[in-house]
Amino acid sequence: MKNQFSSTPLDEEQVQYYQENGFLWLSNLTDETELEMMRAAYDRIFAEKAGRSEGNEFDLAGADEDDKQAALPQILNPAKYAPELRNTKAEAAARAIAQQLLCADGSEEVQGGPAHAILKPAFHGAITPWHQDEAYWNPQMNYRSISIWMPLQDATLENGCMQFIPQSHKREVLPHQSIGNDPRVHGLEVCQPNDIDFSEAVPCPIPAGGVTLHPGRTLHYAGANNSPGPRRALIFGFSLPAIPRQDDRSFPWNEAKQTARAKRAGTAKATM
Ligand code: NI
Repeated sequence: MKNQFSSTPLDEEQVQYYQENGFLWLSNLTDETELEMMRAAYDRIFAEKAGRSEGNEFDLAGADEDDKQAALPQILNPAKYAPELRNTKAEAAARAIAQQLLCADGSEEVQGGPAHAILKPAFHGAITPWHQDEAYWNPQMNYRSISIWMPLQDATLENGCMQFIPQSHKREVLPHQSIGNDPRVHGLEVCQPNDIDFSEAVPCPIPAGGVTLHPGRTLHYAGANNSPGPRRALIFGFSLPAIPRQDDRSFPWNEAKQTARAKRAGTAKATM
């Protein structure tokens, strides 16, 4: 990789690999001092369950009952609760990479920043089942986006690094359902398509402050955390404006959901 702060941080080979396979990994976007600061902020907001009352903190993989330990705690918009997670060196480097991949000539500027945080507690943490991120989004739109997933400690096979199915980004959005087909669960899983060979999955172990990159249609997965330390991941989202589709695509799996998180978000809105 070239200097990640240059206007085209990736070299030609990396750009081609990303475009052909629908994912890429890089070893380092920041330094240990910044990582230490980010870990402290991250641990604080998860300990506080920051954003829970407004539906921004919830269990991605369980029914999200208030009295149970979450299987896969997630916080949306984490920088709202820890402003120090905004405008980091890591974010600047991630933004430059997203800009290069989404609009290298600079005629449009990518928007985004820290989008969410997913914690897999030590010796805990459910798997993140195979899914395409676009399955969560508005089916009426076509997206031009990239997710940049950064672990705040080394990400390994043992603690749940990201895994990808090469070239799956060339598919349309496949049928999904709530995890375990339980509509109380926010998290989605792809309904096992029999034309995809999951043994082709490429695991991407990376060091702390490294990143994996993927667009909204790449099938990805992360294993459980079987290690003695937490697996913290901060996910940056960058995009250009979505483009309305001309067809009537629908995602019935999202209409079927009845999550405690949505109820909390609705109550928070109603009282605002
Ligand atoms: Ni995802």
